Amino acid sequence: MKGIKVLATGRYAPDNLVTNEDFTKIVDTSDEWITTRTGMKIRHISDGEPTWMMASKAAKHALDNAGISAEEIDMLLVTTVTGDFYSPSVASMVQREIGAFHAFGMDLNAACSGFVYGMDTAYRYLLTGAAKKVLLISAETLSKITDYTDRSTCVLFGDGAAAAVLALGDGIYSSYLAMDAHDAHVLYARTHDNLNPFSTKGTQHPDGFTGAKDHFLYMDGRAVYKFAVKAMPEAVERAVEQAGLSLSDIDYIIPHQANIRIVQTAAKTLGLPMEKFLINVAEYGNTSSASVPLCLDEYNERGTFHPGDKIVVVGFGAGLTYAAAVFEW
Ligand code: UT7
Repeated sequence: MKGIKVLATGRYAPDNLVTNEDFTKIVDTSDEWITTRTGMKIRHISDGEPTWMMASKAAKHALDNAGISAEEIDMLLVTTVTGDFYSPSVASMVQREIGAFHAFGMDLNAACSGFVYGMDTAYRYLLTGAAKKVLLISAETLSKITDYTDRSTCVLFGDGAAAAVLALGDGIYSSYLAMDAHDAHVLYARTHDNLNPFSTKGTQHPDGFTGAKDHFLYMDGRAVYKFAVKAMPEAVERAVEQAGLSLSDIDYIIPHQANIRIVQTAAKTLGLPMEKFLINVAEYGNTSSASVPLCLDEYNERGTFHPGDKIVVVGFGAGLTYAAAVFEW
């Protein structure tokens, strides 16, 4: 069996830091509420930096850490829900910026499960030999779809990007990817309305998605919470089982950083100690698909991982998607 090798990781987050205290000046909230309900303290918020720029900075950091040049990359895969253009893709903009001109590329939208879906997609291309080195980047500017008058969502989201250089390896790899759209309406952000001059009926939304203001991100927090505490353990269990391992074989789990309470509940359900879960939600908030690789890179930089370590990455979010992958360091 062939596994996936993480050759290097990198990240970029805007310098502009927004604290819980800062939110008390714009909405009716408190540091105490945000800290106890979510575990969040700080988010990095774009000061005008577009998604492609953050993605490119994270990519350069990962390439530097790998000691390889951008020309050696043959597949550029970007996961995002907050691209800068309908077209071209963020991947195209990254190629232009970093000079990865031997790569083909595309964007992938699986919301907060994006990095895990991206890792799995990269693995399939690596397995067939269609790509030898994949640069997987997850980049999000959630601040541009956040309604800063809605206290129930605005305190949660941050911006940032992180990247991993991937190749085939000899270790274990397995994954479990899932989607259940029954409740897709509990978490969404709509694109621009169709205002074409030939329409006689005007804008229509025959989807029943009625919660959001304009194109802002809407979330029924309680419904998503309920989904998350079930989906996360299920994805981890299935991916681990498929790898022929048991949960006790796993060294680290890197979960989507949406809420510390979701991770604590999942840890209890799985019967695993919190020490196995790597967390940085306090410093970044929820950065959608960027959250798992931001955490991966932070702990990688600290020298946390050693050859042979078995790591699970797990995400859940809009779609509703959920996914986990097991790989060996
Ligand atoms: O990345 C995609 C996946 N996203 C997630 O997984 C997020 C899942 N959901 C959650 O993490 C939680 O549901 C939240 C953190 C979003 C909310 O926490 P909660 O414990 O579920 O709070 P709630 O929505 O049940 O609201 C409790 C109370 C409400 O007041 P009442 O009705 O009890 O009077 C809210 O109006 O807290 C109020 N509230 C706030 N109070 C102060 C909501 N937001 C705030 C706020 N500050 N920012």
